[in-house]
Amino acid sequence: MKITGSTVIFITGGASGIGFAIAEAMAEKGAKLMLADLSQNKLDEAAAALSAKGADVATVVCDVADEGQMRSAADATINRFGKVHIVVNNAGVALGGRTGEIALRDWRWIMDINVMGVVHGTEIFTPLIRSHGEGGHIVNTASMAGHVASAAMAPYHASKFAVVGYSEALQPELAPDNIGVSVLCPAWVKTNIHRSALDKPTGHIGEDDPLFLKMNNVINAGIDAGDVARWTVECIEDNRLYIFTHPDFAPFIQKRNAQIVADYAAAAQYPAFKQG
Ligand SMILES: NC(=O)c1ccc[n+]([C@@H]2O[C@H](COP(=O)([O-])OP(=O)(O)OC[C@H]3O[C@@H](n4cnc5c(N)ncnc54)[C@H](O)[C@@H]3O)[C@@H](O)[C@H]2O)c1
Repeated sequence: MKITGSTVIFITGGASGIGFAIAEAMAEKGAKLMLADLSQNKLDEAAAALSAKGADVATVVCDVADEGQMRSAADATINRFGKVHIVVNNAGVALGGRTGEIALRDWRWIMDINVMGVVHGTEIFTPLIRSHGEGGHIVNTASMAGHVASAAMAPYHASKFAVVGYSEALQPELAPDNIGVSVLCPAWVKTNIHRSALDKPTGHIGEDDPLFLKMNNVINAGIDAGDVARWTVECIEDNRLYIFTHPDFAPFIQKRNAQIVADYAAAAQYPAFKQG
């Protein structure tokens, strides 16, 4: 869909990192913005920066894991702008650790935010987009971690694979309603994402934690969130399903695909599954 001055966009995790950068890129197109995030102070700072550039922006405090807060955020968006066209389900947290040692409470925390947050945004906003008949778009922020997995980050991978699969299912379903679907899949982007793991429910970990230090290094060497955001806007306008940002990760996807093809071929040789 074309983004214009009458396009209304709701962005979760809009006060920082990729969400804020998407808000900036959308503001350049003149779109009206509703930013949702956990802290009013951070939202005020983000809104002030956007307003200073002439953006029409409002904010709402909303924990995406909480269905009631998402419903209130949707009401606030409609009350302020009358309608909504694009929803960016972007808020997310990171969690890794050694399997067998990760608290189940922490597992539920990441799944509630990274998966149910996206589900809440989609389930609650889709009827609102359908209702005006002008079409719209849903962008779900997954990750390259939703396509290729590595050790010691199992909860994050599980949550992001879920978001990729969910988005793939939504695309054909929402196309007849003229609602496009994209899934944003960056690798490392310079944001505050690594800091989210410091505040997981089972307690604060120190900035000297080895996993935190590793994340800190790779995130700080990541690409600029502004580039991710501007490419995301182009991909929405082109109605592209996958929004990739790191061409150097393509071989890892090819390796995974090759493994699937090989294991499928092995299954086809098993006598009980042989065809013909
Ligand atoms: N930075 C990366 O390298 C990278 C790579 C791939 C995917 N991602 C994904 O991008 C998305 C945005 O993260 P980011 O990198 O910009 O990090 P960030 O920490 O800078 O921004 C995330 C924002 O989400 C907010 N948030 C966290 N939990 C929330 C909740 N329960 N309800 C509402 N808001 C909440 C935070 O307050 C923060 O403002 C996440 O889904 C993340 O998993 C990031």
